[in-house]
Amino acid sequence: MTTAIIGTGGLGSVIALQLASGGETLRLSSADTESARKLAAEIGRAAVPAIDNRDALQGADAVILALRFPVLKGVIDEIADPVIDKLVVVPSNPVGLDAQGNLTRLLPTGQSSGQVVAEWLPKGARLAMAFGSMSGDLFESSSNRSPEPAVLFYATDDERAGEDVERLIRVAGFEPVKIGGVEQSSRLEVGGDLHDLVVGPAEARSLISSA
Ligand SMILES: NC(=O)c1ccc[n+]([C@@H]2O[C@H](COP(=O)([O-])OP(=O)(O)OC[C@H]3O[C@@H](n4cnc5c(N)ncnc54)[C@H](OP(=O)(O)O)[C@@H]3O)[C@@H](O)[C@H]2O)c1
Repeated sequence: MTTAIIGTGGLGSVIALQLASGGETLRLSSADTESARKLAAEIGRAAVPAIDNRDALQGADAVILALRFPVLKGVIDEIADPVIDKLVVVPSNPVGLDAQGNLTRLLPTGQSSGQVVAEWLPKGARLAMAFGSMSGDLFESSSNRSPEPAVLFYATDDERAGEDVERLIRVAGFEPVKIGGVEQSSRLEVGGDLHDLVVGPAEARSLISSA
């Protein structure tokens, strides 16, 4: 199947490499088209660079928005038509740097990024918050773990989105575990209790049920 990845920086490039090695076909887009072009060349036949963000969705079954939180809304507005009826995967952590260079949360305490992003999306787009619960390095080193696969957690309100993101998570070399609806996504982000955890399915399920 084909997935569009918008954003080919630190995280988007690691996700692209893992999905391509699992057999997914990719369409890549970035702010500077050169960045997507270089990554597509590194991946080879499984990936093509798109002309722009809307073009990335042509023929794609799903899109991963591997973007910093402050640019998400603008890109969602740009792809509002082609994204309808597609799986939209958002790994973005709602964080930025303050004037002193310290990491700061961009949303008020208690407000989940999943709920905010869900309001930005057009009706008919199917959101799953996933692929942002580990640093890029950990994501790369934990994929295709054997004998027991590592878990990648996700959150969604949409049953079909759940099925589709589970397929993508498996293609990337992880076992999917749902934590709940998008209002739960704060657990996945930097500072959340499920962030940067490398656990197998049994431990993951006990963490979810004990919360
Ligand atoms: N890096 C990690 O280890 C990690 C782990 C977990 C979650 N996350 C989350 O993932 C998100 C991305 O992080 P990152 O580290 O990958 O950031 P990054 O390295 O800065 O990459 C951001 C990407 O977004 C692209 N971009 C910016 N504006 C765009 C636009 N209007 N249209 C299309 N593409 C655009 C940039 O394009 P150019 O390449 O052309 O500049 C770049 O490829 C963040 O929200 C972060 O919280 C990151």
